[in-house]
Amino acid sequence: MINLTINNIQVKAEEGMTILEAANSVGVHIPTLCHLKELFPTGSCRICVCEVSGFRGLVPSCAYPVGEGLRVETNSQRVRRARKTIVELLVENHPEDCLICVRNKNCELQDLSEKYGMREHRYVGEKKQHAIDISSASMERDPAKCILCGRCVRTCNEIQNVGAIDFTNRGFRSNVTTPFNKGLNISDCILCGQCILVCPTAALREKSSLKVVTAAINDKTKYTVVQIAPAVRASLGEEYNLPIGTNVTGQLISGLRRLGFDNVFDTNFAADLTIMEESAEFIDRFTKSNNLPMFTSCCPGWVKYIEQNRPELLKHVSTCKSPHEMEGAILKSYYAKKMGINPKDIFVVSIMPCTVKKFESERPELATEHHPDVDAVLTTRELVRFFKMAGIEFDDLPEDEFDNPLGESTGAAAIFGTSGGVMEAALRTAYFKLTGNNLQSVELSEVRGNNGLKEASFEINGNKINVAVVNGIGNIDPILDEIQNGNSKYHFIEVMACPGGCVNGGGQPIHQQREKILKRIETLYEIDKNSVSRFSHDNLFVKKLYEDFLTEPNSSKSHEILHTNYFNRKKILEQ
Ligand code: FES
Repeated sequence: MINLTINNIQVKAEEGMTILEAANSVGVHIPTLCHLKELFPTGSCRICVCEVSGFRGLVPSCAYPVGEGLRVETNSQRVRRARKTIVELLVENHPEDCLICVRNKNCELQDLSEKYGMREHRYVGEKKQHAIDISSASMERDPAKCILCGRCVRTCNEIQNVGAIDFTNRGFRSNVTTPFNKGLNISDCILCGQCILVCPTAALREKSSLKVVTAAINDKTKYTVVQIAPAVRASLGEEYNLPIGTNVTGQLISGLRRLGFDNVFDTNFAADLTIMEESAEFIDRFTKSNNLPMFTSCCPGWVKYIEQNRPELLKHVSTCKSPHEMEGAILKSYYAKKMGINPKDIFVVSIMPCTVKKFESERPELATEHHPDVDAVLTTRELVRFFKMAGIEFDDLPEDEFDNPLGESTGAAAIFGTSGGVMEAALRTAYFKLTGNNLQSVELSEVRGNNGLKEASFEINGNKINVAVVNGIGNIDPILDEIQNGNSKYHFIEVMACPGGCVNGGGQPIHQQREKILKRIETLYEIDKNSVSRFSHDNLFVKKLYEDFLTEPNSSKSHEILHTNYFNRKKILEQ
């Protein structure tokens, strides 16, 4: 252990720790901007500087290691003055439109400006001017609000391995942008929104769909239906200061009813339906040794990635639509007929933890008889804004229940929101279909956890099935290389673009406790554990749907309504 002093506090730190980490370990807070816990420090923003004995200049605490006998001052007048100057310079080159900004009251620059007592403009000068990139269906990029901390660039390049954005130019002209400053929609971006989660300001944000949703609710000719993704119920409470991972399903439902939706359904219903289709598709491919390994298709960021980077492998991707698209498709076919409503008059809104779902809902191939399956997608953050606009105090909401028949679900559906959940749910049903029995040990620990790659082998009816779970798109390339080289050992692979799965999607609440968000996963596993049924094939309403309408999984009717196709996007990017 290393002994040092921080603000006169005796600290014992492990060798290799940074001063920042040592300070945090004794409750001394040092501000950061460019720092990302999981990545090697760049020390570029200097907001974390402190005075260290033996050094003339100030030292960036996020990048400097602890040393025996060091004396560190994190809150001296010199330190505060330096930090204040950095903040002042950043603010002077910022639009300062806080009152109309989507990150108002949740902005790290605003917070630092307050903390360091910025009360006047001391460095008035030219501000950088940039156009806002509104080209994509999911996200907006506003370079004028960028403070060049580089967290988005590093997340995109070093965690996601996508590399859609980077720094260009020097000095005052420095900028974060796409190659040739083209729109995000024609860059390598997969719209996962991981960059939004780490952006300290609103330089990166989702494209809002609130106007179109409020207009639909106010339109008396529309029958508005809303559905909620599994991960949203385990995260929305954080926006209301509830402990991370609090399950707020009941209040969420009653809040949505008060917003004026005609029906509140559950995407989990369609997650069970997805499992029925996907497990049938897998068994069919497995028994025929056809296009193996099969990839899951629930994550539209992953689908966009393979379309853009390895279109030659698209035949390996399941043709199943993602759960919210399946729910929309059933609403505008089976449910519309049952209720005697013209599908054109049904307006489906999905509340999603994800930014790519906005892009996905606009894909023309995800439409049936010229109606999109889903008309609009709101992220978890947008829903919170909607509640605020409507004067809904979340804390005061009573608990309520989903409407049926598309609100019923099993525990298997709940775990869709976490990495490994789709695989686990699919294997539970595949096992039943192959053996006629339910798994005795339902929880498949091999595919749980937060490793970037999880592998397992299962013996089912004398067949050895090798599966893999890719947790974060940054881990996919070696798996794709193996398939391309003809030496993949896997039969079935789940891929989620966001590390941790949908619980950590780009549309989720933004806060400074990112290391705790995995608690959301525990909540989803808890919902599964406490469910009456934990097998998708036991969902009574899904069974009825097959009896009344779809006949059987993987049938021609299912393919017409619930399956889709993909195409080569590499060509678009190369144009
Ligand atoms: Fe340490 Fe930016 S946070 S230099």
